[in-house]
Amino acid sequence: MSEDLVQRAAAAAARAYAPYSNYLVGAAVRTRDGKVFEGVNVENAAYPLGVCAERTAIGSAVAAGYRPGDFEAIAMTASPCGGCRQWLHEFRFDSVSYRRESGEVVTTTPAALLPDTWELPG
Ligand code: THU
Repeated sequence: MSEDLVQRAAAAAARAYAPYSNYLVGAAVRTRDGKVFEGVNVENAAYPLGVCAERTAIGSAVAAGYRPGDFEAIAMTASPCGGCRQWLHEFRFDSVSYRRESGEVVTTTPAALLPDTWELPG
């Protein structure tokens, strides 16, 4: 389990912008070369436009040049939503850690969170 990464995610959550749900989520990704990128959920008055913490963390790493296969682990303070599970699959994380409502930290894989994924043909 990536306890340090879980702690980075928890610290990041305090910076979430979630005035509509008041549900603060933090995420932290670690690349294979040891860099850490943090993310938070960012909401909007047009509710569907809000983005999850996982996606802002991954987006930050992508903006720095990282690509699918460059990621070792991700941790977040909430169980990933369905759409984020597809992102975890896309970026091929080795490991995914998150805190359940009970407080228990779970470490798993994208495949366990999203079975039977599809590939674009060609
Ligand atoms: N949220 C995340 O940031 N990550 C998840 O995987 C679960 C949901 C955010 C989205 C929204 O801003 C708030 O939590 C309530 O759903």
